[in-house]
Amino acid sequence: MVEFEIKNRDCAGRICNLKTKHGNIETPTLLPVINPNKIIITPKEMKNKFRAQMIITNSYIIYKNDGLKEKALTDGIHKLVDFDEPIMTDSGTFQSYVYGRVDVDPVEIVKFQRDIGADIGTILDVFTLPDEKYETAKKNVEETIRRARESTEFKGKMLLACTVQGSIYPNLRKTCAEEISKLDNDFYPIGGVVPLMENQQYDKLVEVIVSSKMGLDPSKPVHLFGAGHPIIFPLAVALGCDFFDSSAYAKYADDDRLIMPWGTLKLDELDELPCSCPICSKYTAKEVKSMDKKSRFRLLAEHNLYISFNEIKKIKQAIKDGNLWELVERKATSNPYLMDALRVLEKKKYKKWLELFEPISKKRALFYTGRHTIHRPIIYRYHNRLFGRYEIKYSKAVILPESKKPYSRYYKSILQKLPSEIGIIVDAKLGPVPIELDEMYPIAQSILPNKVDKETNLVLKKVLKNFLENIKILTLEDAFRENSLSKKWEKKFDLEHVKATICMQFGKNADKPLLKGEIKIVKSKSTGKIRNIYSNNEHILSMRASDGLFTLKIAGGRRLHKFFKPPNLRVVVGNECRDFILDGKNVFSKFVIDCDPQLRPLDECLIVDKDDNLLAVGRCLLNRIEMLSFNYGIAVKTRESNVKK
Ligand code: GUN
Ligand code: ZN
Repeated sequence: MVEFEIKNRDCAGRICNLKTKHGNIETPTLLPVINPNKIIITPKEMKNKFRAQMIITNSYIIYKNDGLKEKALTDGIHKLVDFDEPIMTDSGTFQSYVYGRVDVDPVEIVKFQRDIGADIGTILDVFTLPDEKYETAKKNVEETIRRARESTEFKGKMLLACTVQGSIYPNLRKTCAEEISKLDNDFYPIGGVVPLMENQQYDKLVEVIVSSKMGLDPSKPVHLFGAGHPIIFPLAVALGCDFFDSSAYAKYADDDRLIMPWGTLKLDELDELPCSCPICSKYTAKEVKSMDKKSRFRLLAEHNLYISFNEIKKIKQAIKDGNLWELVERKATSNPYLMDALRVLEKKKYKKWLELFEPISKKRALFYTGRHTIHRPIIYRYHNRLFGRYEIKYSKAVILPESKKPYSRYYKSILQKLPSEIGIIVDAKLGPVPIELDEMYPIAQSILPNKVDKETNLVLKKVLKNFLENIKILTLEDAFRENSLSKKWEKKFDLEHVKATICMQFGKNADKPLLKGEIKIVKSKSTGKIRNIYSNNEHILSMRASDGLFTLKIAGGRRLHKFFKPPNLRVVVGNECRDFILDGKNVFSKFVIDCDPQLRPLDECLIVDKDDNLLAVGRCLLNRIEMLSFNYGIAVKTRESNVKK
């Protein structure tokens, strides 16, 4: 079974560790394509100069060349290409696309890859074109599944890559993905996308990636076959692709073209090399142009590799910072076809899928980049939770315009004067914000321009209208005139802030069990922010200053556990790890039996055994489908276990 675990995540993307016979790989990563017939930049250089962790080469080319074949079978593929790091091989499928056919048996080529010692080998999937008829695409999918099944038996110790085909038909992609996932193989490329890349049909490409991912086992590495241009890397990673291969570096170099993060440049048309890689720093455009073909090719290939690997680094940093969507959106503004691709993700079914993987909070503030921003999964979730979890306790409200944050501080003088039965809602640029929620991620932690685009305004208008459906709107003057014997807003603001945040995080009515009897809210002396919540002298919650969200203490966990029936908020673990969890150890995914489908990465949760005994409280690192499929890595970070002190 393939050892693959999540280390870090953002969007539906992830940084993972993959174990191979020749060492560990950190994804997302790029595999340079090595043509065994003409090695221009050697695999060793790929490693030492560009930090390539793994290369990919073609077993069919080796198989078809008697000399190479014999050497590969006797010495192994690693000796043949002189590389001691992990090597992936492809099967000849791509040759069948280029030349119309290949001359090898599907099982034979898998056995060959195994016998030459490939770390990852690939089935001979049936390459299916984007413009293929549905019926033919369906037949090709069936044949690909049949070959995957047949090949599994012969993979030996090699990790086997089973490619998803299905042309541009989302249902075929999903079915193909589901069927090959049942075979419990190791590695899942998404194939047949080269023509989409070449024609910049990124909208179709996105649909192909998402529908394939929706059917694939989330615990397996995913490779986007033949997508070597970095323009697509951020979006593909955000959708859950872990591996890329690049023959593009050589193909573009051969064509005298420079790969750039935002597109491609022709050397002929350049007076300057607008890049700071070692090549472009050393030479002028004129110098490169005047070189002979071979030297020019070599330099351009190196430039292309520097750019491509650098883009992967940017993506990894963005995952760690939690701003991968921003990178995706920024990239989209540099290419109209990518803008079309982002549009596709606005379809409800894709938004829903993306939201499953989106972490609850991030290290950095949310930055608006343009009209796409309002469609981000984190905002979609905010709206969903607002409608599904936040309880509107007032029948009248005033609407205040977007302001400096936190809103409650900016609007303090209004809070002081209004009676507490009147709601205060900020018409914010991310959607309506009841003023009690003003510190929660991403409300306080977002930066938007004073004027947003028309499309965002339209979305905001619609959401606000729905939210206000049963609320009477008062002007501020009317609201001040309302006679009331009750307290003013300011007096009960802290309690309402705590209640509303609890409901958004733990579900509707979660405030009922948590806030019982005497409530004590402890604030930081230096910042004035809420720190700890006590109910009847029990410490039930703490609030993180960075994202305004609660961490759950075991006393709070006990109350939620008693109040909410399973599966609410629960992660169920096998009884064999009870003592470990009670001892404060983290929950590994392989021990998870079930999980509340509403839990998301970084949500607080209850860890229970099969009989629903509460063992601990913790923080999810994975969502339900991931917890149920991953065999390696941590599913829940245990915070506090259920032992009486
Ligand atoms: N290389 C580029 N596209 C493909 C594909 O669809 N399948 C395989 N096996 N290799 C590829
Ligand atoms: Zn350069």
